[in-house]
Amino acid sequence: MSKPVVLVTGANGEIGRTLLQRLHAEGNYRVVTVDLTPLPEKYRQYCLETYAGNIMDRYLLDQVAAHHEIEVVFHLAALLSTRGERDPELAHQVNVEGTLHLLRVAQNQSQRLGRPVRFIFPSSIAVYGMPSVEEKTRAGAVVEDAYNTPITMYGCNKLYCEHLGRYFTNYFRQLGALANAARLDFRSIRFPGLISAETVPTGGTSDFGPEMLHAAAQGQAYKSFVGPDARIPFMAMPDAVTALLTLLEADREKLTDTVYNVTAFSPTAGQIADRVRKAFPGADITFEPDAVRSKIVDSWPADMDDSRARKDWGWKPAYDVDRAFDEYLIPTIRKRYAESR
Ligand code: SER
Repeated sequence: MSKPVVLVTGANGEIGRTLLQRLHAEGNYRVVTVDLTPLPEKYRQYCLETYAGNIMDRYLLDQVAAHHEIEVVFHLAALLSTRGERDPELAHQVNVEGTLHLLRVAQNQSQRLGRPVRFIFPSSIAVYGMPSVEEKTRAGAVVEDAYNTPITMYGCNKLYCEHLGRYFTNYFRQLGALANAARLDFRSIRFPGLISAETVPTGGTSDFGPEMLHAAAQGQAYKSFVGPDARIPFMAMPDAVTALLTLLEADREKLTDTVYNVTAFSPTAGQIADRVRKAFPGADITFEPDAVRSKIVDSWPADMDDSRARKDWGWKPAYDVDRAFDEYLIPTIRKRYAESR
């Protein structure tokens, strides 16, 4: 029997690149990708087929679906939170309408195959909106259903798409009495800020963490756009991809919801800077908070309660803050920039 096909959108992004490596290493799926920009050769070799194009292009998506039996969709393509504030309407188009297109493709595939296509969707800490810094400090680790009042277009988009996914899984065409087996199977993870040693994010508001690390590793000065006391949770990229793959393989009977928080550690921006300075003693990091971007970070919780994920599908991060920096980020990043010199 041929291996099932996985469709990855936004494959050329931060999560996508790590995911492609892992899917290739594990060897259980053949991978087809869609991204606005062509994949570099290093990643193309991991894929059965790669398409350069826009997820807003329905014709392209229909073509991809017509050529492959897609059993799993990782829908990673999105405009992140800072980028979304620069162009909210475009963010809505890509993040909501684009997701709707992919849900339609996955739904049609589920009917065609006669079994639920698993639709894995990265959501975000941005779906939360803490009313004040005092409340943020007081609340500590927030559960999935609390503070769902985002202050960014990106956060609104992610929250709404979680609902769309839940709707498609449980209620789509309910008047037409569509058999359960023919509906898609949506599973979503709310990520904290992600830090990768391989890539630097673009257009996010948790970017101060990875940016200060990558700047220091290249000997460049860095001005942080949030102050030293700003605090949000983070996670090392390998853990983020482990979370996606673990949720993908989780037994559907054990899943009590379609949305799951995951997290690993919660440093302040100042504590990240201290770790970076320890690894790169010459690092020139200063703090020049930007009012809007700081407000966005302050609206995100200081920590996320991920007990639902731990209980339902055995989530546990492999990288706490020490391991993340000492065993993954610092050594990998040193190697990365030494090689590119
Ligand atoms: N990393 C994202 C952002 O900063 C949050 O999900 O927009």
